[in-house]
Amino acid sequence: MATETLAQMDEDEKIALLHGKMPALLPPAKRAEGVVIGAGWVQGVPRLGIPALVETDASLGVSNLMNMRPGDHATALPSGLAMASTWNPELIREGGAMIGSEASAKGFNVMLVGGVNLVRDPRAGRNFEYLGEDPLLAGRLVGAQIAGVQSNPKMIATIKHFAVNDQETGRHVANVVMDEAALRESDLLAFQIGIEEGDPGSVMCAYNRVGGSYACENAFLLTDVLRGDWGFRGFVMSDWGAVHSTEAVLAGLDQQSGDQLDGKRWFSDELRPKLASGEIPQAALDRAAGRILSTIYRHRLDGWDERARQPIDYAANGRIAQQVAEQGIVLLRNEGGILPIAASAGKILVVGGNADKGVPSGGGSSQVAPVGGFKVFEQVSKDPMKSFARRAFGGTPPLDALRRELPSAAITYVDGSDPAAATAAATDADLVIVFADKFAAETMDHPDLSLDGEQDALIASLAGANPKIVVVLETGNPVDMPWHDQVPAILAAWYGGQEGGTAIARILTGRVNPSGHLPVTFPRSVDQLPNPKLPGSDAPKADKAARAIYGVQADLQPFDITYPEGSDAGYRWFDAKGLTPLYPFGHGLSYTSFAYGKYKVKGGKRLAVSFTVANSGEREGADVAQVYISRPGKAKRLVGWGRSDLQPGESSKVSIMADPRVIGDFDPALRKWVVPQGTYTVELARSATDIVERREVVLERLEVQP
Ligand code: BGC
Repeated sequence: MATETLAQMDEDEKIALLHGKMPALLPPAKRAEGVVIGAGWVQGVPRLGIPALVETDASLGVSNLMNMRPGDHATALPSGLAMASTWNPELIREGGAMIGSEASAKGFNVMLVGGVNLVRDPRAGRNFEYLGEDPLLAGRLVGAQIAGVQSNPKMIATIKHFAVNDQETGRHVANVVMDEAALRESDLLAFQIGIEEGDPGSVMCAYNRVGGSYACENAFLLTDVLRGDWGFRGFVMSDWGAVHSTEAVLAGLDQQSGDQLDGKRWFSDELRPKLASGEIPQAALDRAAGRILSTIYRHRLDGWDERARQPIDYAANGRIAQQVAEQGIVLLRNEGGILPIAASAGKILVVGGNADKGVPSGGGSSQVAPVGGFKVFEQVSKDPMKSFARRAFGGTPPLDALRRELPSAAITYVDGSDPAAATAAATDADLVIVFADKFAAETMDHPDLSLDGEQDALIASLAGANPKIVVVLETGNPVDMPWHDQVPAILAAWYGGQEGGTAIARILTGRVNPSGHLPVTFPRSVDQLPNPKLPGSDAPKADKAARAIYGVQADLQPFDITYPEGSDAGYRWFDAKGLTPLYPFGHGLSYTSFAYGKYKVKGGKRLAVSFTVANSGEREGADVAQVYISRPGKAKRLVGWGRSDLQPGESSKVSIMADPRVIGDFDPALRKWVVPQGTYTVELARSATDIVERREVVLERLEVQP
């Protein structure tokens, strides 16, 4: 089909498919009639039934950046880290199907979802959008999300940002230096699994360079790995402002997105003369246009009607967002069973963290204006390239939700701006709940791990006044907790999306039993990180010459990022170095308890693990049991997990067939994954460091295609 259509197209029509615009930056007269304003728009070929590609962000719902569709809102899912904390692919798939249905109903046919860059550094500003530090967990979840989005008819999803755009500092100039095996076993593996399981129509290449060449003109990434080894069938679009040459088309980039952001219209104005002179062969144009066309057909976008809008059931969609938020909250600590809060709670003091407004999201292109709109919307940077990263409050405020859940308690709120008054009020309370937030956004990394402003001192002072204290963290990353030992209960609630406040209240009161588990390690301090100093944090500002080379969005002079951990991101680094984190990957408490039995590990060609889990406590709850593997000289790796919802006394069996790629090594010389023959240790665990049982097993050598 694509071949026949391509044969009927003239050069201008083909070129039209190869570049997109940001419709919000187009003068109204130049905008195609009826097209919804979103992140991007690619003109179609109406005479041949090829629709425009109408693109929206993305991973956490249909965003409406800078209110480009005045007043429009959408169901705001919790952050990616909250989604990953559910360890629940089925639920994440449902969330994907929900946001995809809203995108479709609003007139979009391409969603720029899902983000699966690995969390390598807890200071990175976009971690909240992503799915944690482990390639298997992140890859499976992003695959599920994409499959959900694309379960809607006539919808393309876009996995991003390919690859290793793992920090914001210098994202337009940084060059990641990592050997191939390390890349394949970490960041690339998350993409590989996500693509296998989700089959996205498109891949978005990243801003940064990898091994010296821009991700969007990197033949190794876009051609050898993505298409050659992985057999990716869709098309590659660039990130917005990530293209630096027309020759990128030869490396495997098919479409320049939002071309007003690049210095030049590389895939239109600059391409034409090069086609005419033969510098870029016609075949390259046909190949890129052909890939876009075949994706359009495969996802049945032909015949898509941009004017067909559907009503949206926001109430039903809000319930999905709430479920994700509830399953994504991690109970980190609960000394003395201070939680859940009893219905007869008495006097409760709620302090700080904008608990009266709600903290639904981080800032940047992923930010969704929740149903009901934002209550406050603050610009955080005057830099024009960062001005779209705004801090916003809205959704369900936890304070209102707590009052609803605990109607007979006397709940008072102080915002914490007067620490002395808050501390005095705490003395008199039966329970103090402190909300602590930290704003994270695209384009900005954190300088350190501490909470914003004076919140650490406030918490310490409140804890000094009243030992019955609970801290609820609403952050986009792991944070330091200098007050940790003084506080008996701590919840990591991330950014909870529009129903985050309701979810927090229902967890605190025990209406819902916490079941989230950390998808990232909480370090004790930055000194435990592979790069104690954030790469590029001392790079000089870009000058005119650097901007001429690296583009208008370049803000720093170029620098290299070396990741000393290689493929051992997160808990693997902590394991390899024998470091004890503040909270390990996989950790999460419950109000009930679980017991494990019949742990069986079978070796040979393929590793198979099974065990039973029983709810040995008094309440219904969900367990996330994990299995890790290691061998001498190698850090442990997650090979699987089982999430089991159990009534008290109920038990279930979990069976895991391990993917050899998370056991073995990538051998660049053989261009294969190799599981070496040998004895391995297989752990059934509650977290990366809380081991229930260990078994030794012998595995035979196995080679697997890349
Ligand atoms: C982000 C992408 C996003 C695009 C379009 C870029 O700034 O990196 O994730 O999809 O903008 O809004």
